[in-house]
Amino acid sequence: MTNIAVLVSGGGTNLQALIDAEKSGIIKSGKIKLVVSNKADAYALKRADDNGIDSVVITRKACGSQEAMEQKIMETLEKNNIDLIVLAGFMSILTEKFTGKYDHRIINIHPSLIPSFCGAGFYGLRVHEAALEKGVKVTGATVHFVNEIPDGGEIIMQKAVSVADDDTPETLQKKVMEQAEWIILPLAVEKVSKQISERKDVK
Ligand code: GAR
Repeated sequence: MTNIAVLVSGGGTNLQALIDAEKSGIIKSGKIKLVVSNKADAYALKRADDNGIDSVVITRKACGSQEAMEQKIMETLEKNNIDLIVLAGFMSILTEKFTGKYDHRIINIHPSLIPSFCGAGFYGLRVHEAALEKGVKVTGATVHFVNEIPDGGEIIMQKAVSVADDDTPETLQKKVMEQAEWIILPLAVEKVSKQISERKDVK
């Protein structure tokens, strides 16, 4: 079984999709052990609590620097024997010190079809604003491994979503979540959890 930590910053609808997928058996090779938030007021923390999942708040402000925050997160992950880290709306770009330690063990959900509308500065609603400004007719979501390049790691899964003429950033965000993110994130988590747990069994 792969021990999973989900890192969040906000509403946590992707965390909810993972919790639901574990309950329904879509995720069967991994278990969500811990939720880590870098925001004290993230609604995702309530979702963890409601579902009996341990959670911890680790903010940059309280730690004093990005480096100290990452160090604290790494210690927490180690203490909890975490094998796989899922960034589900985690709005802080992790440095190479962190990503290098967990090669092919961190995955992220991004609300566009990478390599479009990604990299530093493209997060949350901004991604959908940029897609609408460009006038693309198809967008979607991508799950990828995380390396030192923002949104630059190997792609695991993608799903396309049609853009309507009257879409606003808000309606497009909702569509991309419902039609892509909440579907492919659990599938990708199961895929990678299975690979990791098979490697663990061999050891
Ligand atoms: C999601 O749309 C996720 O793809 C996006 O933030 C939202 C978080 O929502 N992530 C990024 O933009 C990362 N670059 P949630 O907290 O409800 O899951």
